[in-house]
Amino acid sequence: MSTQNLTIDEPVLLGSGPAMEWLRAAAARVAGGHAKVLITGESGVGKDLVARFIHARSPRASRAFVALNCAGISETLLESELFGHVRGSFTGAHRDKIGMFQLADKGTVFLDEVGEMSLRMQALLLRFLENGEVKPVGSDRVSAKVDVRVIAATNRNLEEEVTAGKFREDLFYRLQVMPIVLPPLRERHGDVARLARFYLARFNAEFKKRVKGLSPAAQGLLDEYTWPGNVRELRNALERAMLLADRETLEPGDFTTLTRSVSPTQFKLPAEGVNLEDVERQLVVQALERAGHNQTRAAELLGLNRDQVRYRMEKFGLRQT
Ligand SMILES: Nc1ncnc2c1ncn2[C@@H]1O[C@H](COP(=O)(O)OP(=O)(O)OP(=O)(O)O)[C@@H](O)[C@H]1O
Ligand SMILES: [Mg+2]
Repeated sequence: MSTQNLTIDEPVLLGSGPAMEWLRAAAARVAGGHAKVLITGESGVGKDLVARFIHARSPRASRAFVALNCAGISETLLESELFGHVRGSFTGAHRDKIGMFQLADKGTVFLDEVGEMSLRMQALLLRFLENGEVKPVGSDRVSAKVDVRVIAATNRNLEEEVTAGKFREDLFYRLQVMPIVLPPLRERHGDVARLARFYLARFNAEFKKRVKGLSPAAQGLLDEYTWPGNVRELRNALERAMLLADRETLEPGDFTTLTRSVSPTQFKLPAEGVNLEDVERQLVVQALERAGHNQTRAAELLGLNRDQVRYRMEKFGLRQT
């Protein structure tokens, strides 16, 4: 669970091309108002960053920006994080606690992975969005009426979730007054080189290095790679390369994690044989890691559908995050 409560500088949102220009314009346009925004896009594509960008440019910039990841926490805890609780309302609730909606009064609450909310939590959120009333867990009275802007994000396809009956349609429409879709990095021509230069300068300063740039071969490798983990993966690749770099120019060999993409001829059965279940498990783990635990994306990497991935996660006892 990540919670932050800080006044932030306007984040740097790099990128060019029609999709990114549209994004920047849309983000700047919605920032001025109070409209709810729903940000969608693959893992690592910049959803957090855009939420902060919108807040920092909004009239609420001097007030709190509070972020909460709705995935991987129990329903009671999530409800208590958002609405607070009264003492004794559940095991471990030793004293009254104020929730985020109240903490962020006049500011912004960023609900990350909103698609993971249970139907009951969705109903509570919907009610809050309608009346701004905060009712803490364990209390039957409204403790406050607040004014917060809600920005939500998800890497699920919420329309599909609505069709499947897993996400409330009324909540969906209420959240996505202004939808913002972030394009995956592989569709943003030129941005790989731009972002690589940005991170090169940054890690040069951070690690006190003097790397001048990438060799044409290294740049070609980055340009051709499909970046399933998007900007986060690029940043991590640069960070690793810069940390280890001992020359002025980065070469393809400095990006070993990317060159490992498999070609069919690499599948060779070792003389001693293998345990196929182990191999399968390892591939599922790797795909999930590379996809930043986005199951849809991991499924694409494995040539499976999401249910097949879920089935295997269960079979191998892998945690759903
Ligand atoms: N356009 C951009 N310009 C500069 N940095 C970016 C840009 N987009 C993303 N980043 C950086 O990439 C990293 C991942 O971005 P972010 O955390 O916003 O992704 P996300 O979409 O929220 O991912 P997840 O789905 O995993 O939560 C961050 O370090 C962020 O600063
Ligand atoms: Mg995020």
